[in-house]
Amino acid sequence: MKQAISVLAALALAQGIIGEKDQQKPNIIFIMSDDQDRQLGSLDYMPVLQKELVAKGVEFENHFGTVSNCCPSRASFLRGQAAHSTNITHVRPPGGNYDKWRIAKEDLNYLPHWIKKAGYQAEYIGKFMNGYSQVNYHIPPKGWDHVDALLEPYINDYNNVVMSQNGERPVQYRGFHSTDVVRIKALDRLDRLIDAGESYFLAIMPYAPHVGGQNPPTPQARHADMFTDIHAPRFANWNPPDEIQQGKSVFLKDMVRMDSEKEAAADALFRGRIQSLQGIDEIIEDVLAKLEDKGGLENTYIIFTSDNGYHIGAHRLPGGKALPYIQDTNLPLVVRGPGMPQGVKSKVASAHLDFAPTFLDIMGLPQTEWPELLDGRSLLADWADPVPMANVEIGSAKEIINIEFWGDKIIEVPQWDRVPLTNNSYKTLRIVSEESSWMYVTWCTNEIELYNTTADPWEINNLARKTITMPHQNLINRLNALLMVTKSCTKSVCRDPWSALQPPSAVKRIASLTDAMAPDYDDFYANIPKVHFERCMMYQDEANEMPFYPEGAELDLGKAYRADTDNWVSSQPGNATVEGNSVPAGSVEQRHASLDDLMRDVHVLTDEETLVSVPQV
Ligand SMILES: *[C@@H]1O[C@H](CO)[C@@H](O)[C@H](O)[C@H]1NC(C)=O
Ligand SMILES: *[C@@H]1O[C@H](CO)[C@@H](O)[C@H](O)[C@H]1NC(C)=O
Ligand SMILES: *[C@@H]1O[C@H](CO)[C@@H](O)[C@H](O)[C@H]1NC(C)=O
Ligand SMILES: *[C@@H]1O[C@H](CO)[C@@H](O)[C@H](O)[C@H]1NC(C)=O
Repeated sequence: MKQAISVLAALALAQGIIGEKDQQKPNIIFIMSDDQDRQLGSLDYMPVLQKELVAKGVEFENHFGTVSNCCPSRASFLRGQAAHSTNITHVRPPGGNYDKWRIAKEDLNYLPHWIKKAGYQAEYIGKFMNGYSQVNYHIPPKGWDHVDALLEPYINDYNNVVMSQNGERPVQYRGFHSTDVVRIKALDRLDRLIDAGESYFLAIMPYAPHVGGQNPPTPQARHADMFTDIHAPRFANWNPPDEIQQGKSVFLKDMVRMDSEKEAAADALFRGRIQSLQGIDEIIEDVLAKLEDKGGLENTYIIFTSDNGYHIGAHRLPGGKALPYIQDTNLPLVVRGPGMPQGVKSKVASAHLDFAPTFLDIMGLPQTEWPELLDGRSLLADWADPVPMANVEIGSAKEIINIEFWGDKIIEVPQWDRVPLTNNSYKTLRIVSEESSWMYVTWCTNEIELYNTTADPWEINNLARKTITMPHQNLINRLNALLMVTKSCTKSVCRDPWSALQPPSAVKRIASLTDAMAPDYDDFYANIPKVHFERCMMYQDEANEMPFYPEGAELDLGKAYRADTDNWVSSQPGNATVEGNSVPAGSVEQRHASLDDLMRDVHVLTDEETLVSVPQV
């Protein structure tokens, strides 16, 4: 039978019924930076991205991370699930890291396995997750045909690059900058993938523009003198006066105003980020040049995004992430690909959990074969026809973005005590629609905030702080009801939270916030239980977050698709054992260095240097 089909296919090919082109499914190159903002304008400083992706593709203005922290955001992306479903909720125990991901067995059912099912080659280069380190490198991320990942504790040192390829012994790339190493390796893999002639998915995951330890990111040496006179933009939420700051909750309302020294540190951080992004712009440049040179550009989706956003100077915080506000959660998303329009800006709302289903859609995997655990939805139709909002089915999950966080946050600027700012757990909802847009948050102290983001895009006027007016109370009741559903939703309920919130008296289906605002339903929504925390905790604990809605939702939380992690134990990445570059790498000569150049002075870490004697999970 099989033979008969291939004979038929060969015949069809010979007769020109199936063109060569039709046979090849589109490739996907996914480039994700680390901690890059959209709102601070960092994309404006990436000329190649502007010329090759923004001008020749679609920029999505309303793309969000599901959680503003590296490891949880990546887990959500890789599983197509909300953070409460993965329960990978922080970069450290007990919330999460690479070990928890493995112990939960989430690595047995995630993106690369599904990509393989679709018949693609699946490869990954760069940062994988916090906690993948020199002590557990030999248990590499599962599913990939080829994975070459940066290892802790070296990840945040741009001048001490240690990686493990497919779980092999860690290798130190002496004399090279982290972003150059990722670029050179990615280009080499791309060469091989194109030559192999099969459809592929290639993830390129550089570490820039993340801070390097306590310091601004270290750019490649060739970029260190660029943009020396720029400073961070001063938006309306920049270092606000008391009357604004006091509208905030938890530790935020007590933050001291930044002095000029702190403002200067924030500006230096902004500059370092912009400089370090030049290396990522070069990655984009080289990837495009290779596709153009070797062929395949027309049949390849190139997707650029970041794992989470970033604030500089907002709400008196000089630098960092982890907050529910716009700068921390709204992410760059630019896509260029077959059949997509050029130079369009789209307002269609999406989140990281939507990528996995979108990829499966692009890869032509029939929906019947998609994993059932997905909380996200395919964006492919919106990508093909990204008419601003007009395209949006009113009432679908597209107007509702759920963002969560558990744990603490830190200030990522030097000369500032790196005291953890505790009580940073919260549940947030954004309404992103043509008719209205809102941001609503319940903190773990049960303080709430409400912003009309149409009038107040920088989220400085907390409408829930003062005496709450009746119209706002009615609105809050609807937003609370939605948040009750989205804080524990899975699968189709995440894609359509209103499905769980239909008033019995409704004459037609409630499909949007506008529908739900009808006064007839005031009582119904007022009677939905309130989002509540018993106390502030560092991780997701059902008992602490009762009640749930619909009743019993706490039994779901994606638990059917992951193993129990109570009392899990994390390995310790250990301290660096090998010295980094003595002079900052990334010279002009290294701009076009080859893999051979990179391999010329590598150091393979010894047993002692990988700390294999340390007890491992
Ligand atoms: C939100 O802000 C917009 C723009 O100022 C305004 O037109 C609208 O009435 C506001 N909505 C509410 C419910 O206050
Ligand atoms: C943190 O939350 C706890 C309740 O969980 C509360 O007692 C404490 O005052 C909060 N601290 C701050 C700084 O908000
Ligand atoms: C999430 O993880 C923590 C830590 O492993 C665990 O204690 C908790 O029960 C988990 N929560 C859920 C809902 O699975
Ligand atoms: C790692 O380094 C820190 C700070 O230098 C030190 O306090 C700690 O003892 C070191 N840990 C090990 C296992 O050597």
